[in-house]
This record gives sequence, C-alpha cells and structure tokens, in this order.
Amino acid sequence: MFITFEGIDGVGKSTQLDLLETYLTKRGHEVMRTMEPGGTDLGQEIRHLLLHRKGEVAPRSEALLYAADRAHHVATKILPALEAGKVVLSDRYFDSSVAYQGAARELEVDEVRDISLWAVGGLIPDLTILLDLPADVAIQRRNKTGVEPDRLEKEQVDFFERARDEYLRRANEPRFLVVDAAAPIDEIHQKVLERVKLLES
Ligand code: TYD
Repeated sequence: MFITFEGIDGVGKSTQLDLLETYLTKRGHEVMRTMEPGGTDLGQEIRHLLLHRKGEVAPRSEALLYAADRAHHVATKILPALEAGKVVLSDRYFDSSVAYQGAARELEVDEVRDISLWAVGGLIPDLTILLDLPADVAIQRRNKTGVEPDRLEKEQVDFFERARDEYLRRANEPRFLVVDAAAPIDEIHQKVLERVKLLES
C-alpha cells in the first residue's frame, strides 16, 4: 500500500500523517513513513539546496531538483519498502511538483508531470489524500507556527492559489480523496480511515 498526502503549505498534513501512522501500526502493519523533499541522505542535501540555500533557483532547475530527489527516494527507499510488504506513507510526492512547479511556477503542467513520472519509473500511489484549504487561510495557519518561512513559503498568495487549483483539478483521478482541511482534526482522520479501510480489505 502506497499512500501520499498532498496540499499547500499549512493544511495540516503532518498531523494527519501522525494519526494514520498510529492507526496502521496498531493494526499490525509495518509502516515506512517518509517525505519529499529530503526522504533520503542525498535528498536532505537536495532539500537544503531547494529550500535554504541563498540565491535564485531557475524554475526548470527547481523542477529537476525535486525530480532528482524523488527518483532517488523511490529507487532506494520507497520501492524496497513496498517490495518488503510495508505500507509507505509519504508527506508529498509527484503531485506536489505538478501543483507547485507546473501550475504555481507556471511551467507546463503536463511536462512537469511527464518528468516526474519518468523520475519514478511510473510508480503511482494507491491513494492520495488531498487536504484542501483556500490559500489565504493556509498561509495564516502556516504563519501561526512561528517557524521561519523557507524559500517556497515566501511566495505570495496567488502562487499558492495556483497550486491549490491544480491539486483540485488533478483530484478527478479516482486515487484521490479530497478532504476539507478546515474540519476538526478527528473528523478529517475519520474520513481518511474510511478510505484506507477500503484499501486494507
Ligand atoms: P514540506 O516539507 O512539505 O514543507 P515543511 O517542511 O515546511 O512542512 O515541503 C517543502 C516545500 O517544497 C513546500 O513549500 C512545497 C515544496 N515542494 C515543491 O514545490 N515541489 C515538490 O515536488 C515538493 C515535494 C515540495
């Protein structure tokens, strides 16, 4: 089982990942929780280049760095875990690139999707949970954490609006579950569980 969590910054992905990880572990599954960018040692270095290095990163370079992180992540961590029968939970996967680099950064959405799919050898998640919030609300929530914004988080509201709209467009695919991230934490978790239970059976 390969499950990914998506959404713009500030929608509460980590909280829901924590809850689902606890549920699946209690049910006796071996869970491998991971994230992008930075799910591997090499990925941590790429993450630093993408988010914390000073100076400009050209949009196509940004897209390729995310794809490079992902290619290594899939080959060395995700695929081996799936082959060992583990449940893989990832905080972001290639839909992030399509939404952020394709739509928000205004590269071609289809081109970014093709590059991402090439990077991962066509590995598509069984389930993608999209936590949805309007961009202004998500930004406010993110700012409340008090954590210094990284390079991407410094973008303006219209950047996140484009990313959100693209996520919602992509969510027509049956592998998506869209949940209103303004709902109470436990209500969101119950909706996630309903869908995960279908995969388990
Ligand atoms: P994330 O780790 O979710 O941020 P945080 O550590 O603050 O929770 O992701 C880092 C940023 O990278 C986030 O702003 C979204 C962005 N991103 C992309 O633009 N494209 C991608 O393919 C991925 C995976 C993330």
